[in-house]
Amino acid sequence: MNYKQDFPLLAKNPVAYLDNAASTQKPKVVIDAISNFYETKYANVHRGLYQLSEQATQAYEDAREEVRTFIGAEKQEEIIFTSGTTASINLVANSLGDLLLKVGDVILLNPTDHHSNIIPWQLVAKRIGAEIQWFDITADAEIDLETVGEKITPEVKIIAVGHIANGSGIINPIAEIIEHAHKHDIPVVVDAAQSVPHLAIDVQKLDCDFLAFSGHKLCGPTGSGVLYGKEKWLERMEPWQGGGEMMSEVSRTGATWAELPAKFEAGTPNIAGAIGLAAAMKYLNGIGMDVIHDATNEIYKYLMIELQNLDYITVLGTSDMSKRNSIASFKIAGAHPHDIAQILDDNQVAVRAGHHCAQLLMECWNVVATTRASVYFYNDKNDVDLLIAGLQEVNKIFK
Ligand code: ALA
Repeated sequence: MNYKQDFPLLAKNPVAYLDNAASTQKPKVVIDAISNFYETKYANVHRGLYQLSEQATQAYEDAREEVRTFIGAEKQEEIIFTSGTTASINLVANSLGDLLLKVGDVILLNPTDHHSNIIPWQLVAKRIGAEIQWFDITADAEIDLETVGEKITPEVKIIAVGHIANGSGIINPIAEIIEHAHKHDIPVVVDAAQSVPHLAIDVQKLDCDFLAFSGHKLCGPTGSGVLYGKEKWLERMEPWQGGGEMMSEVSRTGATWAELPAKFEAGTPNIAGAIGLAAAMKYLNGIGMDVIHDATNEIYKYLMIELQNLDYITVLGTSDMSKRNSIASFKIAGAHPHDIAQILDDNQVAVRAGHHCAQLLMECWNVVATTRASVYFYNDKNDVDLLIAGLQEVNKIFK
């Protein structure tokens, strides 16, 4: 299938776009859904008693229902629209942190995660006087499942872990971690920014307590995102941000809160973002999440084989393909990743170079930066071939 034809930018631009872990391209149906909303239905939501506002409210709430079914949540009340994974994790870190943590308690984190699943927890730990502890990591940059049980001491009150590591592509054993945690009634927050675009996620089967992800990594617009939370937690948590529509009554001495999910959606939301996100989910579902996964995996395997065929390249992380998804971080001795990315760009290949907002992962690998190629279902062999040709050029220059 030539999926590129669904994406106006990819249909016109010969770039080999291999930076999908940073953000994905947008299909025409998503672009159209957003402009159609602005052109025909636009008004603020939940406030107006006139038809346009009612239509906009309906479209916004229909988007929530689309998200609910996409991740298999039980109730719409459990779907909070946010501006992205970062906002989702900051929300849960602050509100759940305030609910559960006191001085000396522990938040258990994963050092191979993105900074957005580390720094919000460090901030809340500092504010409350709680402590951060870390899962052990194997030489292959995997979470060491053997030691997970012993990490869960009585002081651990919250566990936060990424599903797929953005710097390595390694799939973390979150089902096992959740099972361990729930034996001790500890809630688990999953950063699913890199997994919701690729895997059919069912939050009820997974039994995670919270799941955070962004719209822009699954063909939706920037500034759209979701925090899923089990109702039993969201009901007990105080709002993170105050403002319009999140309250029930306000007096000079305080306020009471609106019902879920409004309690966590202060201010005018990103209405067009939610509508665009729902359009993206419909588009992906139209292809089928299994087909998306298999198409991505086919091109990913090709990418990995082609990279491993180059003796001057070291692909970092486990070589077990069943534990990896869509991302290849690599190094070339003697060549800085920024130079590699620059030469690739001269060859119409877009990759990311740097620490990928995952400096503790870089520390595990004893590097300061890597070059990262990340694929999605619309990539084809030609994109990988362009990358490999560009890397041959890098090797000629630096060897
Ligand atoms: N989190 C995004 C990435 O991994 C931006 O590149």
